[in-house]
Amino acid sequence: MTTSGQPRTQWLGRWGFILAATGSAVGLGNIWKFPYITGEFGGGAFVLVYLACIFAVGVPVMMTEIAFGRRGQGSPVDAIRRVVNESGRASAWSLVGWMAMLCGFMVLSFYVVVAGWSFSYLWKMLTGGLAGSSVDDMAAVFGANNANPLTLGFWSTLVTLLTMLIVGKGVQKGIEKSVSWMMPGLVVMLVVLIGFGMFSGGFGDAVSFLFSFNAGSLSSEGLLAALGHAFFTLSLASGAILTYGSYLPKGASIGRTTVSVAVADTVVALMAGLAIFPVIFANGMNPGEGPGLIFMSLPLAFQAMPLGTLFGILFFLMLSMAALTSAISMVEATVSWLCDNKGLSRPAASWGTGIVLWLISTLAMLSFNLGADWTLAGKTFFDWLDYLTSRWMMPLGGLGMVVLAGFILKSDTFRDELGLAPLPYALWLTMVRYVSPLGIVVIFVDALGVYQVSFAAHWPWLLGILVAMAALGETLSPRLRHALRTS
Ligand code: PFF
Repeated sequence: MTTSGQPRTQWLGRWGFILAATGSAVGLGNIWKFPYITGEFGGGAFVLVYLACIFAVGVPVMMTEIAFGRRGQGSPVDAIRRVVNESGRASAWSLVGWMAMLCGFMVLSFYVVVAGWSFSYLWKMLTGGLAGSSVDDMAAVFGANNANPLTLGFWSTLVTLLTMLIVGKGVQKGIEKSVSWMMPGLVVMLVVLIGFGMFSGGFGDAVSFLFSFNAGSLSSEGLLAALGHAFFTLSLASGAILTYGSYLPKGASIGRTTVSVAVADTVVALMAGLAIFPVIFANGMNPGEGPGLIFMSLPLAFQAMPLGTLFGILFFLMLSMAALTSAISMVEATVSWLCDNKGLSRPAASWGTGIVLWLISTLAMLSFNLGADWTLAGKTFFDWLDYLTSRWMMPLGGLGMVVLAGFILKSDTFRDELGLAPLPYALWLTMVRYVSPLGIVVIFVDALGVYQVSFAAHWPWLLGILVAMAALGETLSPRLRHALRTS
């Protein structure tokens, strides 16, 4: 129930939630960010750690978030407060919810700029503005696109407007429907690109870049980036999944739902890597090119392939849609909080949020032109938003949630909400108590430079320690023994 006494909206069953959560998860993170950070951090080792983070940290955190949302029936702040109160714990824990809400908002402030790139490339595809035959030509197009604050601002403003318009209209309509055709469409486009890549001459290099695991090659920074990206790509600790979880009907299985979303998200990211890197290697581009990577490489592929313009238009259309379905999920927490606590109507909450968002995102947009020199420690405002959210706020928020669920709250709450059989429940509990928090803490400590040893080179040890801790926990923890005995 909301404070106004109306029942909360619900998705049309588990399937509706899967569509919406997949729509949130699959976005620019998979197609724009995953390839470019994989390029920056050197390929295979990064990909392996990223996959480990998805399944060892991301999946348990996502289950926990959905359970918080459904149990607490509200925005992250309200839901977490209710759930902790139910266990007789202090409301101060809802700080975790505040951070998540803030994080979603901060992500959206730079996300609309990147989504704006996608929209502007769609426009260029439609109007023939992407002519050029070399990597340098494409780099020049990307540079020119960013140089003018008015045009770049136009596109990010357009994305902001569209996002707030959809959010203002309410949760169910639109979101589920658009995801159900956009997602398969995106996959088809990626298949076309991968097919093209196979004949481009760069496919072999791309596969070995992505999948050959070279242990020593990953820096502490890379480990933190892989962890952060696992959170980012699954939309975790930003209020999105938790708030969507509050619309999930009681009977739906949280475990199966989470695994479907995580698998779909991972498949799309890996496909994006396989679509993009062949073009990079075939054209002698630098994989560590940075945020412009896909915008400089893919147009070259579209130009070289038959029906390229058509495919290019479809691709940037799908990418823009994928960005929108993610963008709307980022403000859902804030809007739902404003509606529930301040008595605002959805449209009013949405436009109010939109104005603040527009101001901050304009600053982020200026990082590419007028404000390129406004840096702090070498990072622009745009870089700071990205860095603070995915490297720090998301993993810390996730840590807060698993610690709450694993150690602080009554075990009945999550056992009841997750509704798992004894074995999967014990597995989830082991993950949230030992594996996920330790993984997060280890990577943080490493990144802080407190422990000056390359973890990448010592992973067998670490894995051993994690397994031993889990086994120990399982024998000692009354909660786990209880779980196994009674359900
Ligand atoms: N998961 C989205 C992507 O990969 O593009 C990004 C995202 C969506 C992050 C929603 C955070 C969020 F709350």
